Amino acid sequence: MPSNTLTMNKPFPVSLLDVSAHREVGLPRDRVDGPRKVSGLATYAAEYGEADGLANMAYGYLVGAKVGRGKVVSVGADKVLDLPGVIDVVTDFDTFLKVPQQGGETGAPTQGVRDVEYFGEVIAIVVAESYEAARDAALQLDVAYETKPGVYDFEAHKSETITPPFNNIPAKYDQGDFDKAMDEAEVTVDFTVVTPSQSSAAMEPHASTAVWGEDGRLTVYGAYQMPTSDAQQLAKSLGVSASKVRIVARYIGGGFGSKLGIAPETVAAAIAAKKLGRPVKAVMARQQVFETTVRRSNTEQRMRLGATRDGRITAMAHDTIVSNLEGEGYFEPAGISTHFLYGGENRRITHELVELNLLLSGSMRAPGEAVGMLAIEGAMDALADELGMDPIEVRRVNEPEQDPQKGVPFSSRQLTRALDEGAERFGWDKRNAVPGSRREGEWLIGMGVSSAARGNMLMQSSAKVSIAADGSVTVASAMTDIGTGSYTILTQIASELLGVPADNVTVTLGDTDDPPAAGSGGSWGAASAGSAVYLACEKLREGLADAMGVPFDELTLKDGTAIGANRQVPIGELVGKGVEAVGTINPGQQEQKFRQAGFGAHFAEVAVNAVTGETRVRRMLGVFAAGRILNAKTARSQCLGGMTFGIGTALHEDLVHDKRNGKLVNHDLGEYHVPVNLDVPQMDVHFLDEHDEHANPINAKGIGELGIAGAAAAVAAAIHNATGYRPTSFPVTCDKLLDVLPAV
Ligand code: MOS
Repeated sequence: MPSNTLTMNKPFPVSLLDVSAHREVGLPRDRVDGPRKVSGLATYAAEYGEADGLANMAYGYLVGAKVGRGKVVSVGADKVLDLPGVIDVVTDFDTFLKVPQQGGETGAPTQGVRDVEYFGEVIAIVVAESYEAARDAALQLDVAYETKPGVYDFEAHKSETITPPFNNIPAKYDQGDFDKAMDEAEVTVDFTVVTPSQSSAAMEPHASTAVWGEDGRLTVYGAYQMPTSDAQQLAKSLGVSASKVRIVARYIGGGFGSKLGIAPETVAAAIAAKKLGRPVKAVMARQQVFETTVRRSNTEQRMRLGATRDGRITAMAHDTIVSNLEGEGYFEPAGISTHFLYGGENRRITHELVELNLLLSGSMRAPGEAVGMLAIEGAMDALADELGMDPIEVRRVNEPEQDPQKGVPFSSRQLTRALDEGAERFGWDKRNAVPGSRREGEWLIGMGVSSAARGNMLMQSSAKVSIAADGSVTVASAMTDIGTGSYTILTQIASELLGVPADNVTVTLGDTDDPPAAGSGGSWGAASAGSAVYLACEKLREGLADAMGVPFDELTLKDGTAIGANRQVPIGELVGKGVEAVGTINPGQQEQKFRQAGFGAHFAEVAVNAVTGETRVRRMLGVFAAGRILNAKTARSQCLGGMTFGIGTALHEDLVHDKRNGKLVNHDLGEYHVPVNLDVPQMDVHFLDEHDEHANPINAKGIGELGIAGAAAAVAAAIHNATGYRPTSFPVTCDKLLDVLPAV
């Protein structure tokens, strides 16, 4: 099959998307998968069954350990095997997953469940003729344990840290002489931010439907963000070759990081299906999603800034302590944007890790920035306060000419423009700089600002694009759509580049039998899969130009028609029995030659009740520059979702571990509070024009996580402006404000 591969070693200044005759990319097109979703025709992982050729389904219910640390002596299956409908209690103490895998890994996660290392660890699966029968039996099991003492209390153990391994950024970074510069600084800020564990809390629970074919090949219909690497992880976990595993994840009800790697239900379902010789479906109960997938680590972050009287930063240190299970190297990279956000020659960014017997910590939307920017942006707000300067001005003064660490240019950076345009649109000039000075009855009103920054990534991805004899186009890739709009933007890219109406484009995603892709993670999905589609379409355009007998640059494709050399031919007629091509994008040297990140600004207005301490967000505005915007509507939705996440981080989300055994006290959506409609005010999103020629051939940067990066910090700054109290412990619940509010 014809193929077209590009490695981003050079800029890509002229994208076909700038010159194509058929305009489609950027339009606010409704989600192409929307009707399928609202009519119930979109099949999610837990919904596969007879209609999909899966007869004789058995239903699994996971058994989670009820001790925080110990050893399983016996699962106690005898007691339930005679219950109506129960088929078996299946376990494999060596092969079951102790924890989910982290995103992008190609190996198996930690396996083995005889030794329990955290409350909820999946030790077995009960399989029955119905979900209800399996659940009933699982709840009646008499599991016997030997308990062992565990370590559950972060506060009590936070001095016993280890240095975690490299994770996207090194755990420790030192530049210049921070201590000396801090000693000599004219103005200093030193404060510590504490954030709790958080849960991704995606709507769709983790689910896997596993079926072994007669050829010995396993198919898992699952809820995954990255099927290509998930299939590799699953094959390694089961000890089979990668070609023996197929993953299908066509629709995913949110992931936010929790579905980047395979989770325990996947392997449990696969092993049970093999043992029973029937398809097995394992759907996590909501509580199990909380207990046995992945959390964002809690953090304690000490942030120090030293500056001159005119606001120039001379010293910067961001020291973070996080937690994870023993032996799991992942650390929440809270200092990730501190590396490049502001100038200043003397900087130190460190991460240390406390090993606790709590569920795995891993990636959750904007790993690092989402909570890390509470520290750096809180410190910038505090510095503005110290200096009596406007918070936007302090950021402007510290705008670096180039990456302050690597000494390379930014591929694109419109931070100050985002701050300025945001200030104008939000009415920043109406902010009273004196905290606690604006009042409406019982309510104290304040406004806050934060920068937004999120590293941009490109990941190896492929896609196949075909044109059929009737002129219709199909796109196929193991990319996913986790609710973000991938189906829609890939439709738009193919539509524009091949000059066919979007209605004549069909996109198929989430199947590892299609060309491999990096999937949805780290906000790289649209740019990576979109570039793969671009490259396949470019190849097809070469063939169409040849068929028309015109040079590549003189081919016009529009409304299903090829135009050139004074001819106008329906595209279907040009392709004979049909043509196809595969496009592959690879990251390259542009990542080293340029610092690539999306930038923006968040503005928030809050009202804090002076009597009760209740905080209501009244307005929010996000201004973002993320390269080419592929679909104005889905991009905006991503930002609205990110900003809503920011409200959750600032005011609501708090995963509470019982200090006696690590059990999650609030393991459902009733008790783990996320923002609901009434918590989310009028929000506005504005995009700045930008094309990033260093990023990829479609000149787009990631957007999914840019909207959360800094959002919580803007709310925190607004609380300070309203009350005079600078929040350091998140979420800022009423109790934390009661004692510090001014008298009514
Ligand atoms: Mo994202 S935390 O890579 O889904």
